[in-house]
Amino acid sequence: MEKENLIRPSLLSADFLHLSRDLNEMKKLGISHCHYDVMDGTFVSSVSFGEPLFSQVNAKYGKYITFDVHLMTISPLRQFRQYALIGAKEISFHYEAISNDDLAKIPELRKEFPEVKIGLAISPETDVSLILGIANMFDFFLIMSVVPGKGGQGFIQGSENKIRRLVQARQLNHFNYTIGVDGGINEQTALKCYEAGADFMVCGSYYFKSKDRQSILDGINHTLGLDSRKEGI
Ligand code: DX5
Ligand code: ZN
Repeated sequence: MEKENLIRPSLLSADFLHLSRDLNEMKKLGISHCHYDVMDGTFVSSVSFGEPLFSQVNAKYGKYITFDVHLMTISPLRQFRQYALIGAKEISFHYEAISNDDLAKIPELRKEFPEVKIGLAISPETDVSLILGIANMFDFFLIMSVVPGKGGQGFIQGSENKIRRLVQARQLNHFNYTIGVDGGINEQTALKCYEAGADFMVCGSYYFKSKDRQSILDGINHTLGLDSRKEGI
């Protein structure tokens, strides 16, 4: 398996009028994952982008970049199927959007789409203890460190403690999931999350607001004590 990068740029903050340019640049920078935020106008008030755009970017860039789809939607299992059918390889949906019936259907989903990694996203107001009992059902977790719904917000301090709890639970129970964090990532908050044990970090505005994205990645790596070209991003 190709090495996965720590930093995953979030397409939500890209320049929509120049998406190819931004994606070509990610490819050139050797970025392994790009975060794809789906907002339905109901689970969160905004609407972002949907399946038609995903199909196009995944057809052109999916060979080089894995798009991780973050569903901020109600009825996420239906959406999960739709994205899995058009080639998404990593899909997360929100704990706050699923019912017990949905949870019971996850094994079916896994059978139907064995190649797709299934993730659970957790909004800031959700206590992480609530998900420890179902943690073994998921391939990854996405700790939201901002209120879902838009890019460019400040990191909610203390979110890194949720990462720590999931790291502890993984060690204690010999689980295999990975842990991502999403929202408000910059050099300082990346360091907190990295020290807490995050396996990946979604970074939207901090990455895209700069014209020199290599130096953004280098700066984060430097702060984390990593060498971008060898170990980090
Ligand atoms: C927020 C989204 C995030 C967002 C992150 O609802 O889920 O993925 O794009 O953007 P920044 O890094 O700007 O907080
Ligand atoms: Zn997201």
